[in-house]
Amino acid sequence: MDLSATIGNFKFEHPFLNAAGVMCQTAAELDQVLGDDYTGSVVMKSATPSPRPGNPSPRYYELPSGLGTINSMGLPNEGFDYYMDYARQKQTKTNKPIFFSIAGLTHDENLAMLHQLQDSDFDGLVELNLSCPNVPGKPQTAYDFEATQSILTEAFAFFKKPLGVKLPPYFDIVHFDMIAKILNQFPLAFVNTINSVGNGLAIDPDTDTVVIKPKHGFGGLGGPMVKATALANVNALRTRLNPDIKIIGTGGVTKGRDAYNLILAGADLVEIGSQLMVEGLPVFQRVESELAAVMQAKNYQNLTEFRASLKALD
Ligand code: SIN
Repeated sequence: MDLSATIGNFKFEHPFLNAAGVMCQTAAELDQVLGDDYTGSVVMKSATPSPRPGNPSPRYYELPSGLGTINSMGLPNEGFDYYMDYARQKQTKTNKPIFFSIAGLTHDENLAMLHQLQDSDFDGLVELNLSCPNVPGKPQTAYDFEATQSILTEAFAFFKKPLGVKLPPYFDIVHFDMIAKILNQFPLAFVNTINSVGNGLAIDPDTDTVVIKPKHGFGGLGGPMVKATALANVNALRTRLNPDIKIIGTGGVTKGRDAYNLILAGADLVEIGSQLMVEGLPVFQRVESELAAVMQAKNYQNLTEFRASLKALD
């Protein structure tokens, strides 16, 4: 069975990646994901120009009954240069295409990092994260359609390497139409949908307190509770975006059937976030073999046979 996938000229032998933010901050973590036999590659933690400690702890919490997770990490990362050094070192030693994710806190920081990437010999894919919900006082750029249009217009005026965007979830058909209209104006290599569902709130019944410290307990939701939202966003964008723009489906994957559903809805690659936190690296082998079992039962030999073939009811 062939589980490979492509974005442009980049080939991935396996369709699974870590979601940026999980097991990807330090070189040791990145090595583990990159080196795992069942990952297509690694997505590095979204970088800011300088290292950031992120928000105060506790900033991550697993909700009971496997519902999912809430986090307000606040972009803790080792800084742009650290990830550039890592990627440049590894890209000569691996055939897995590395994702360099950036999340500047301002429009100018994003453009400055894109200039550095353009001028470097980094030869992987770049993800512009327009959707982090966890930096106090900084709204998610991709909910501001004018700001999204403006950053992409300025970026593509000089940026010629493969570039994608990480999007927040949208919840209205009109918003799917609006964001797709903007994205279709640009030669994007991919969109990654969804980031966590921003600004949820969870309460500890024993203490009657919120469960994480930053932002009075408000944080991004992930895991099974966001699965239907991720599926809807993948499908809504697949049916609206130019076919050349590939889709990375992220959100709520805990088993092979979840990955199958995202691919059926239109995803090219699939990221695993919360479940990677919960289960660790073995999740990749388990979910891949469960995906293969679903495909075998339906007589599919590769992902293209069923990708984006979700049907509506007559
Ligand atoms: C975080 O660091 O707060 C999460 C990253 C993201 O949501 O993009």
